[in-house]
Amino acid sequence: MEHLLNTRVQNIEISGIRRFFNMIQEYDNLISLTIGQPDFPTPSFVKEAGKRAISDNVTSYTHNAGMLELRIAASNFLKERYSLTYEPIDEVIVTAGASEAIDAAFRTILEEGCEVILPAPIYPGYEPIIRLCGAVPVFVDVRNTGFRLTAKALASAITEKTRCVVLPYPSNPTGITLTQEELQDIATVLQDKDIFVLSDEIYSELVYEGSHHSIAQIPAMRNKTIVINGLSKSHSMTGWRIGFLFAPAYITKHMLKVHQYNVTCATSISQYAAIEALTGAKEAPRMMRHQYKKRRDYVYHRLTAMGLDVQHPGGAFYLFPYIGQFGETSFSFAMRLVKEAGLAVVPGSAFSEYGEGYIRLSYAYSMEMLKEGCDRLQVFLEQEKRRK
Ligand SMILES: Cc1ncc(COP(=O)(O)O)c(C=O)c1O
Repeated sequence: MEHLLNTRVQNIEISGIRRFFNMIQEYDNLISLTIGQPDFPTPSFVKEAGKRAISDNVTSYTHNAGMLELRIAASNFLKERYSLTYEPIDEVIVTAGASEAIDAAFRTILEEGCEVILPAPIYPGYEPIIRLCGAVPVFVDVRNTGFRLTAKALASAITEKTRCVVLPYPSNPTGITLTQEELQDIATVLQDKDIFVLSDEIYSELVYEGSHHSIAQIPAMRNKTIVINGLSKSHSMTGWRIGFLFAPAYITKHMLKVHQYNVTCATSISQYAAIEALTGAKEAPRMMRHQYKKRRDYVYHRLTAMGLDVQHPGGAFYLFPYIGQFGETSFSFAMRLVKEAGLAVVPGSAFSEYGEGYIRLSYAYSMEMLKEGCDRLQVFLEQEKRRK
């Protein structure tokens, strides 16, 4: 009876990152630089707050939008760090990770046939949800503009069906960030149009030069922008599943219904831990950022010394070098790297067809692993050169 299952669900696929990760599980002694998950433990204060929540029996449902104390902490965090102001009472929703925030946002704003603009290569978490909503992903190729969505490229992709533009910066998989000027140019294109912006800022605390900017800081854009953030990357809390939606009340009042019927509320225990993360453990992202920056510099230097063409990333914890010169698909290249060099990276094709010809390395790993990974890649590339 499989044919009776929802066609849209049948037609989407498991993310290419996960598929590749599962496929390589059988190989021994692999150095894997595949997963975008911080290797630091969750800060100890935060873990203690979670344990305390269990001992104190605060293990029941919370307000659908999340505990007010957490919404206040999240709102204060955004204000202090990025000068964004959201009213904790009705402009903030605590979600089960940024993933659920993406789902709730798209299901609130999208309808059959409307279009969503995605700068590609792009994180694979948007397209399937857009398709589940019956909407149409419109990829804008950003390979020739340093992986940046330019105002010009955006303007030429807009049609009367465009309902939303996704701004996923700092970017997974490229690590590229947008400057205030670039965001202003994009805002100039969008400000008079009835188009929403989904600004996925999950890596906002991982910006290595200067500071993070959000398009919602631009007054003309605030009313049409949904900001997504969360604690997975900034506080090394991927398994706690805490994300946030920030938007004007006329949007959150509808997103809250989608969120409520989906998960009721984010896990209460995690919410207590999250309050601690945003108050007591505020300094944790700075410490991790410092380490990631050192790792980024190391891996970037190694890749360029190997002769690979790679954009210098300003944020997140990924590098996205070009490997098209080896004349094979990114999947076949990555598979050979696994088999012949004992190194796992993600094929660029996991990030839409525009990622073909690239591989993604995550540097959310220890220096020892990064060094060993780079050594293995170097030996592999030297063999490739000799073979040619
Ligand atoms: C750009 C981007 N958005 C959202 C997510 C999902 O984050 P979470 O684990 O909080 O659901 C990820 C995870 O890798 C990501 O890279």
